[in-house]
Amino acid sequence: MNFSGAAIVAGVCGWPIKHSRSPRIHNFWLKKYGIDGVYVPFAISPDRAADAFRALPDLDIAGLNVTVPNKEEAFRAMHETDRWAQRLKAVNTIVVRDGVLFGTNTDAFGFLESLRRSRPGWRADKGPVVVLGAGGAARAIVAGLQDEGAPDIRIANRTAERAQALASEFGDPVRPVGWEDRADALDGSVLLVNTSSLGMEGQPPLDIALDALPVEAVVYDIVYVPLETPLLAAARARGNPAVDGLGMLLHQARPGFRDWFGTEPEVDEALRDHVLGTF
Ligand code: ATR
Repeated sequence: MNFSGAAIVAGVCGWPIKHSRSPRIHNFWLKKYGIDGVYVPFAISPDRAADAFRALPDLDIAGLNVTVPNKEEAFRAMHETDRWAQRLKAVNTIVVRDGVLFGTNTDAFGFLESLRRSRPGWRADKGPVVVLGAGGAARAIVAGLQDEGAPDIRIANRTAERAQALASEFGDPVRPVGWEDRADALDGSVLLVNTSSLGMEGQPPLDIALDALPVEAVVYDIVYVPLETPLLAAARARGNPAVDGLGMLLHQARPGFRDWFGTEPEVDEALRDHVLGTF
């Protein structure tokens, strides 16, 4: 809330920032709901990020989204954090409240919400899940699935140590499986999530045989450029439900918008089309 009578200001910070889709999402919502606000990209290098966050209250900025590589620095710079930020040791949404910097992480929420909207009735506690990759996105997704009661979370990553580290940090039921065993790990699973950059524009496709994957299992690719990755095309071709990565990007934006601008925003086809227009 701001008391100056001027437009509410929020934004996104990262380094670089020019590829961020967040301004397109939030400015679409500001226009749709007729809110007197602006949402701007800020290019802030990691060594300047903590100072920039501390300046937010004096600048009367309502808050920021934080993207690569500033999420960990943001976590350290906050006055208060919630359990998601603490669990992931990373903040992607800062809300300024009475001069206090409050940090949360909405990536797990974004993932789970997009999954629930695409596959109503889908439940994590129905069987094993397989997560490919062990970077920042994998952390959020694994935490979300663990929270939802997934009974067996199998993480396969090219660099085995990172999968092991994630499993040790999060504990039961998260466990590493060898990258070379990724196809066998699909046996009996209810969900396959690709969090690696494989399949992204300019990257090699994800090489994985889906034969062991039950045909009811959901295949979720967090890549959204292109929207239809070779993995999703292969999944659809054999009858598996497929979910693309755009939903996670759109849903993770909702809590920040609500807290800064005071309106619960909606993710719909018009927003999807608007954001897709930039790809
Ligand atoms: P993010 O934070 O978006 O998850 P990241 O930390 O850079 O991004 O993680 C990218 C993921 O893609 C990692 O799991 C990476 O595997 P490594 O930990 O072995 O680097 C995975 N990845 C990238 N290129 C890959 C490739 N050619 N083959 C297999 N995995 C790859």
